[in-house]
Amino acid sequence: LHDGPLKGRHIIVTSGPTHEPIDPVRYIANRSSGAQGTALARALSALGADVTFISGPADVPPPAGVNVVNVQTAQQMKDAVEAALPADAAIFAAAVADWRVANASGSKMKKDGSGNAPTLEFAENPDILAGVSQLKQNRPKLVVGFAAETDDVEVNATAKRARKGCDWIVANDVSPETGIMGGSENAVTVISDAGADSWPRLSKDQVAAKLAAKIAEALA
Ligand code: C5P
Repeated sequence: LHDGPLKGRHIIVTSGPTHEPIDPVRYIANRSSGAQGTALARALSALGADVTFISGPADVPPPAGVNVVNVQTAQQMKDAVEAALPADAAIFAAAVADWRVANASGSKMKKDGSGNAPTLEFAENPDILAGVSQLKQNRPKLVVGFAAETDDVEVNATAKRARKGCDWIVANDVSPETGIMGGSENAVTVISDAGADSWPRLSKDQVAAKLAAKIAEALA
């Protein structure tokens, strides 16, 4: 353990969905399983990296041998990422909720018998990937974001890379007919300075191994 090309490198990986509370017993979430982020953390650790794995409530268990930080909300994930810096690389595989409930209740909301339903108000969550990409101090040498797109994958992912300021975007086509969302396979295009590199359809473990090798090369 902890031998290999990434020995001595600290890498942050975010993974899974976030849960944004409505009240103490209810929340807003998304369908991210955490499978790709977990596979990537495992692959980086297998190459010797010291991995801080910051995960929302995922369907799959975290890998063994990594430093696991469990969070619920986007704000908690941001705080955990900042507390984990400095790092050589930061990989943002989490499906962070774009909005949190601005008028979340501190106690369980109850029907009041009037037939009136409550109204939820939303506030935008901080963009963790963009924040870390734009750090003036402590910016990891390699910052990687993910993009789930349903059309014009390369064009949209290239624009996203520029907007966020990250080094790479790992884009995948999550159109329903691909069966990728929630499935065990992935077909990704890696957008970097060097342009777009499309990989064939592979298992999420194989995508993780190829990405970990590419990260090791970039940090060498
Ligand atoms: O803008 P979009 O949500 O499509 O960008 C996806 C990428 O940005 C992912 O890498 C995700 O982990 C990251 N992200 C983030 N914080 C947010 C929203 C997205 O780190 N609030």
